[in-house]
Amino acid sequence: MTTNNDRVVWLKGPAVRCETKPEAALTPWRLVLLGAPGVGKGTQADLLNRRMRACHLSTGDVFRAAASGSECEQSPAMKEAFGYMRRGELVPDSTVWEMVRERSECLRCGGGFILDGFPRTLGQAESLKQLMDSEGLALTAAVNYELPFSEIVARLGGRRTCEKCKAVYHVTERPPRVEGCCDRCDGKLVQREDDRPESIKVRLEAYERSTAPLIEFYKNLGLLVEVTAKGSPDDIFEGTFAQLESRRVRETAQKAWVAAEDHR
Ligand code: AP5
Repeated sequence: MTTNNDRVVWLKGPAVRCETKPEAALTPWRLVLLGAPGVGKGTQADLLNRRMRACHLSTGDVFRAAASGSECEQSPAMKEAFGYMRRGELVPDSTVWEMVRERSECLRCGGGFILDGFPRTLGQAESLKQLMDSEGLALTAAVNYELPFSEIVARLGGRRTCEKCKAVYHVTERPPRVEGCCDRCDGKLVQREDDRPESIKVRLEAYERSTAPLIEFYKNLGLLVEVTAKGSPDDIFEGTFAQLESRRVRETAQKAWVAAEDHR
């Protein structure tokens, strides 16, 4: 099954409308993906999106779109964000939150969402929780992908991304059919600026310092699902999906039991 959600509200900003809206689900998946840069969150978000139909919402994609000037409104803060990205540093919370808050329609969407790269600090996680609580929305889970840093560096060094549709490849692990050319849209495959060795080092340090504490945050909320990101993307995806499904079945059974008890 392929995705046809266009995510334009997320990528371009709230002034536009999604032409292809995801179908409203009875119980939408609302996921946060955690894990170090390069662990495979974007790859997994794409696979989850195809199965769950919830939109893949990457904050990195929005900042890159703003920097390229082609797809997204360019406020001074958004332009400035690209400087932080190139150096591998985190964009300040105030800029990130302003951008996400403007797109909160995507969080309310009946099709659900898969957040990739957000939240990345405790401040961002708390802001997201407050917004969702105030809207009566609940996260389904926070999936944390784990991999040794040495393997992460190899993944980042070989990554190539489609300029047009943002599909992600790897020169040896997930090569395109034709070198340098996207399988899906024939777009040109390019290396991200922040995949240079000096930026990778800064990104991994920023992850350790600011993002790793979120694992405990979501564990305390009972939302953490832990996944080892070794093996093929499809195997990782199938294992994750099975864990998420069984979690959901358990929760539905629990709710039904509580409702039945209340009726007695
Ligand atoms: P962002 O775009 O979010 O990048 P990231 O978190 O650094 O994550 P990546 O996209 O690099 O990696 P990924 O985990 O998605 O891995 P992928 O699937 O591509 O953020 C970029 C920057 O934006 C940040 O540094 C920051 O400056 C800024 N920013 C964004 N959000 C922010 C926020 N909330 N707060 C502050 N600043 C923010 O896979 C990597 C490679 O491995 C690919 O080549 C892939 O093909 C390959 N691969 C994937 N899975 C496998 C596998 N199982 N086996 C072998 N190879 C695999």
